[in-house]
Amino acid sequence: MTVSSDLRLTRLPLNNGSGDMPALGFGTLIPEPGVTITATRDALQAGFRHVDCAERYGNEREVGEALRTGLAAAGIKREDIFVTTKLWNNNHRPARVEPAFEASLNRLGLEYLDLYLIHTPFAFQPADEQGQRDQNGNVIYDTGVTLLDTWRAMESLVDHGKCRAIGLSDITLSELSPIYESARIKPAVVEIESHPYLPETELLEFCKEKGIVFLAFAPLGHGMKPGLLEDPVVSAVAARVGKTPAQVLLSWAVQRGTAVLTTPKTSDRAKENFDISALPEDAFNEINRIQTRQRLNPVVKTGVGGFLTPAK
Ligand SMILES: NC(=O)c1ccc[n+]([C@@H]2O[C@H](COP(=O)([O-])OP(=O)(O)OC[C@H]3O[C@@H](n4cnc5c(N)ncnc54)[C@H](OP(=O)(O)O)[C@@H]3O)[C@@H](O)[C@H]2O)c1
Repeated sequence: MTVSSDLRLTRLPLNNGSGDMPALGFGTLIPEPGVTITATRDALQAGFRHVDCAERYGNEREVGEALRTGLAAAGIKREDIFVTTKLWNNNHRPARVEPAFEASLNRLGLEYLDLYLIHTPFAFQPADEQGQRDQNGNVIYDTGVTLLDTWRAMESLVDHGKCRAIGLSDITLSELSPIYESARIKPAVVEIESHPYLPETELLEFCKEKGIVFLAFAPLGHGMKPGLLEDPVVSAVAARVGKTPAQVLLSWAVQRGTAVLTTPKTSDRAKENFDISALPEDAFNEINRIQTRQRLNPVVKTGVGGFLTPAK
């Protein structure tokens, strides 16, 4: 890990030698297509160089459009940004992985991806539509494919050179560990919910030991109120160090050695959320000592996203 004295420039090495990823990332889970475009451009302009996408979010085309115009406007080259997208649950069958990958690449208008993730470890019935349900409205799981089968197809994508690294999302340590052991190409990144109310310390330790980047989503607790942004410890630290609660939470995440995703939707928020700086050690430790425990997103248990519904 290159912890720069400027926290915004921290980069985390990938365990497959393909380079490193900026710790501070911009997430594109934004339901409105127009806001997706403006927010992505604003994020690039503010300094974000890591963009997290997913076929599930239904907006890869808009992100792609914003990247094309945003890179040109900011004078940035494709290789100066790190782009991730994710395979959704209906595409876990090995034969569906490469077509799903190519479709994402095409929508994003890119030649290669820096990182491709299995979005959740849950396989749904193979289908071109994402939201297949039975007559009772329940998700239809696919028992004819294992996570390792899907992982093998992900490894082939790296072999074919269109994707530099692969990883998993919404995964627990007990699911990650056997994949890590069996993998020919080891997971480079795991993307999971994490914040001071869900530090996932055991998983973080495993990742550090194996050189896997731990990428935290929901660092601001999805902005829920009451929640992390109003937590008394976080608010007190923010007042003391002259930063906002959002900046304190993002700094804490990078300082503990993780990458982190945030989704500012306006130019001012993009500047605010990029402008993080190291917390004094006592402040960092005060946040580590917060005792509240809360998981906000049920996706890790079912494969079904929570209240953050995509556009389609
Ligand atoms: N792998 C997965 O299953 C998964 C699941 C969820 C998310 N993700 C990824 O993680 C990214 C981030 O997740 P998230 O959006 O839930 O994270 P988050 O940053 O914890 O929450 C976003 C919320 O915080 C608010 N917010 C943002 N900046 C703020 C600031 N400076 N001050 C006050 N409030 C602020 C936003 O409000 P406004 O709406 O008012 O802007 C929004 O309600 C997503 O875009 C996506 O890429 C992945």
